[in-house]
Amino acid sequence: MGHAEPQVASSALQAHWMPFTPNKEFKAEPRMVARAKGMYFYTAEGKALIDASSGLFCVAAGHCRDEIAQAVFAQLQTLDFSAPFLRGQSKAFELAERITQYTPEGLNRVFFTNSGSEAIDTAMKMSLAYHRANGQPQRQLFVSRERSYHGVNMGGVALAGMVNNRRSFGVGLAGVYHMRHTALPDHKFVTGQPETGADLADDLQRFCTLYGGENIAAVFVEPVAGSFGCLPPPKGYLDRLRQICDAHGILLVFDEVITGWGRIGANFGAQAFGVTPDLMTMAKAITNGAQPMGAVAAKQGVYDTITNAGPAKGVEFFHGYTYSAHPAACAAGLAMMDIFANERLIERAAAMAPKFSAAIHGLRDCPVVTDIRSIGLLAAIDVALLNNTPGARGHEAQKRLFDAGLNLKSTGDALIIAPPFIMDDSHLDEIVTKLRGVLAGL
Ligand SMILES: Cc1ncc(COP(=O)(O)O)c(C=O)c1O
Repeated sequence: MGHAEPQVASSALQAHWMPFTPNKEFKAEPRMVARAKGMYFYTAEGKALIDASSGLFCVAAGHCRDEIAQAVFAQLQTLDFSAPFLRGQSKAFELAERITQYTPEGLNRVFFTNSGSEAIDTAMKMSLAYHRANGQPQRQLFVSRERSYHGVNMGGVALAGMVNNRRSFGVGLAGVYHMRHTALPDHKFVTGQPETGADLADDLQRFCTLYGGENIAAVFVEPVAGSFGCLPPPKGYLDRLRQICDAHGILLVFDEVITGWGRIGANFGAQAFGVTPDLMTMAKAITNGAQPMGAVAAKQGVYDTITNAGPAKGVEFFHGYTYSAHPAACAAGLAMMDIFANERLIERAAAMAPKFSAAIHGLRDCPVVTDIRSIGLLAAIDVALLNNTPGARGHEAQKRLFDAGLNLKSTGDALIIAPPFIMDDSHLDEIVTKLRGVLAGL
């Protein structure tokens, strides 16, 4: 086990402007963690909290894996940093190759970023560059969906179907159109993919008719909307999007930042649903969350088109981050690839999924629960509105769960459960028992 961080005095909490956190509330009533191991976080006082959300969908292999820590330490002693532009280091090439062993066939070119948000903006730029290289510079529009989350950079803010983005930052990029979300009233308490709603994909066809399919660069969707509370795609929905994209020459981009790396029972959502996108974003579990890293996997045709259109000796894709393929992140990623392979972690997640789903759906009888959805090792429990204020009960629930010894991510009134894949039956029992206890008193 690692060493506990010293507890921070509340007077020392002011300088850190916390992300996506009610700062005033948190600093008045902080909930801190000090260390972690396996399925658990621990407070400085030694109280254990079972991690029901893999941190933030990151820690698929459980916390503080020695293999990853040692690989990062060794890397930092050997080559701590080298510029990713015009210079190479072997682990970047090795990790890209290993990633392509998991991506769908054909998505075999990998561009590294440091987060999911950067992966999204990178994929938007790849889409624009691809069409320009292809002689279609007029393709500048993007399509995404209501109730989607695509990170926090300005491209992703425009794509995301979230009213708070508009309320906080205004319209953002022009030329982004949102399809309707896929949560229909008859999808309540459905396990896996709903039977109805494939026709919602025809919103894309409507946009093609209205704005000209030849003007649309790309469609971005999460195969399962994750941050908004686990909305699996209706059966046939993603296939229909693929058909419409093909008919109009539009690139299809799957944002697999949550659904990637085994979360929904296959390597990626693309394989889980049998639909292959042109570009795929990923992050989080690539390094088990131990180092920041994101990536875009591109079809070879996209890479070839952009690369071949570029100058013989000049930069073909005018994009990159100082920390793209950072050596320490690559080392963590390679150690994680070994863990995926040696522990058959993705297969393990898939095998656990039916039991997980049944256990979570067993909470349906709690009076405050209004809906439960699940797929793979991802589930969301909706709780009823409190005082007519969206999000109030969900926020209260995650605080009470923390106090009861369970760490979980909530979005609005959805409690999102996404445990590490090393979860066993006793962990699942503990998660469900703690959830039931708190839900009963909400
Ligand atoms: C689907 C999706 N896309 C993008 C992001 C942004 O990733 P990051 O927070 O690493 O920038 C997230 C984060 O949860 C996500 O769920």
